[in-house]
Amino acid sequence: MVRVGDSTMETWRGDITTLEVDAIVNAANSSLLGGGGVDGAIHAAAGPELLEECRALGGCPTGEARITAGYQLPAAHVIHTVGPIYPRLSPERAAELLASCYTNSLDLAAEQGLASVAFSAISTGVYGYPLGEATAIAVATTRAWLEAHPEQRMRVVFCCFDARTLAAYEAELAHAAIN
Ligand code: APR
Repeated sequence: MVRVGDSTMETWRGDITTLEVDAIVNAANSSLLGGGGVDGAIHAAAGPELLEECRALGGCPTGEARITAGYQLPAAHVIHTVGPIYPRLSPERAAELLASCYTNSLDLAAEQGLASVAFSAISTGVYGYPLGEATAIAVATTRAWLEAHPEQRMRVVFCCFDARTLAAYEAELAHAAIN
């Protein structure tokens, strides 16, 4: 765990749909109408009402985030963010959009007065973002946001579905802790 003021960042390995936090962050697509990967798992666990609420949102541009209820999930809310599709963009633009996924999700959580947020590893699956680079952006952007919002006592969990992702996040947090 890394402390940033009164906030913390930590890793956890497992299925994000089991986490009892204020919000889990879904790696959605711009339609917000579900899909595979973590998006499919979250919709399957939340139940059909989640899709109904998402349908009413009318989609979400890449880099932005939307919040819904969690329905049958243990998490009270789901923040849906749309990560960059890496192969379609310049590395610089992809990095910009991925960072905005994290800042926009944290802004939404703060607006709703949430105290605990668990992120999935946005864009590192189907969307092909190289894991090391995406992890560095996720941790650096989150840390910068926490430093810029000292009034927010936020518990940020980086939810890693596999050992490779967990190792990447643990290495990045260890780096963040000593710098
Ligand atoms: N809990 C936590 N993490 C998970 C889970 C789960 N149940 N299932 C998958 N993951 C992890 C993947 O292992 C990966 O590390 O989520 C990360 C993101 O991978 P994807 O789900 O493929 O998301 P992304 O790369 O952002 O692609 C988004 O995929 O599922 C579709 O509808 C989605 O079109 C969108 C695209």
